[in-house]
Amino acid sequence: MPTIRFHSADGAFQQAVDAAPGSRLLDVAQASGQPLEGSCEGAMACSTCHVLISGADAGRLPPPTEEEEDMLDFAVGATRSSRLACQIQLTTDIDTLDVRMPPGVIDMSRK
Ligand code: FES
Repeated sequence: MPTIRFHSADGAFQQAVDAAPGSRLLDVAQASGQPLEGSCEGAMACSTCHVLISGADAGRLPPPTEEEEDMLDFAVGATRSSRLACQIQLTTDIDTLDVRMPPGVIDMSRK
């Protein structure tokens, strides 16, 4: 079962969550209270699900499509490790992923 380790924008560890194989990273993040809006619900029209992914199994993820790369061009603070969480399916190939919120994300639930 994939374990997702969420980190805030400053890199501080927030929580570790076990994700059901086949689940979508955006859904796991939102269900865990992470501050990802995901306003287009996966239609790749908003980039409000932008995250920075690292960790041992980051390289096991399929590379972003050209469409995802184009949308990441609009994301604030995008880097080479940027992905759209709505496009990440968590398969059994993934053991652990580190997922950091991008700079500028304001977590309204943790005030
Ligand atoms: Fe809009 Fe991912 S939810 S691009």
